[in-house]
Amino acid sequence: MLRVKLLTGRHCCEHLIVTELREEHLREAYIVEVESFERPYPWEYFRFIAALSSGYSLIAICNGKIAGFVMAVPYEGGLAHIANMAVTPEYRRCKVGSALLSSIEYLLENNGFSLVFLETWVSNHAARRFYEAHGYRAIRIIPGYYEWGEAAVVYVKLLRQGIIGRDVPVLSGSL
Ligand SMILES: CC(C)(COP(=O)(O)OP(=O)(O)OC[C@H]1O[C@@H](n2cnc3c(N)ncnc32)[C@H](O)[C@@H]1OP(=O)(O)O)[C@@H](O)C(=O)NCCC(=O)NCCS
Repeated sequence: MLRVKLLTGRHCCEHLIVTELREEHLREAYIVEVESFERPYPWEYFRFIAALSSGYSLIAICNGKIAGFVMAVPYEGGLAHIANMAVTPEYRRCKVGSALLSSIEYLLENNGFSLVFLETWVSNHAARRFYEAHGYRAIRIIPGYYEWGEAAVVYVKLLRQGIIGRDVPVLSGSL
């Protein structure tokens, strides 16, 4: 289990704790999901992703309340997929997302993962800026990926030099 205690440089949280997401946290984490997305996952699907990412799911607790979560699904070959991540609107731009992302990357890297990938919808500018600020590189557009018809942009980040190789092709042109 990873348990990291962080003090933020801003005023949003006196104490931000990043810790493992466990079964008893799921209901409260799902409130973050509902508050965060226009089209939240149904509860059962949210639970399903949490089960797939068991051992690689974290929550951020801010002032005693779950303020965000991240779920990474492990694959073979050193790959991990960030399948879900959100910070409740009240605590955005407070580095809660950054603490979660850095913590999951640390956890993954220390468990032998070398490459993280994720996707988000093209018009999700906040998330795209966020991932780009954390060193993720857009490598691919998948047209019509989402059920509402929008394209997905796929991001990757190398955690360390593994079998994948040194260079990851970067998507060029405007998205
Ligand atoms: C994306 C998300 C997780 C970011 O969480 P957060 O806690 O607000 O992010 P941080 O405070 O750690 O931001 C770190 C940096 O990312 C970038 N960033 C984050 N949100 C941004 C925004 N709305 N606009 C532009 N840049 C942004 C900035 O560079 C920011 O640093 P700064 O605040 O010093 O400028 C959050 O906006 C969210 O939950 N969005 C809705 C759910 C979602 O889209 N999830 C991802 C689906 S794949």
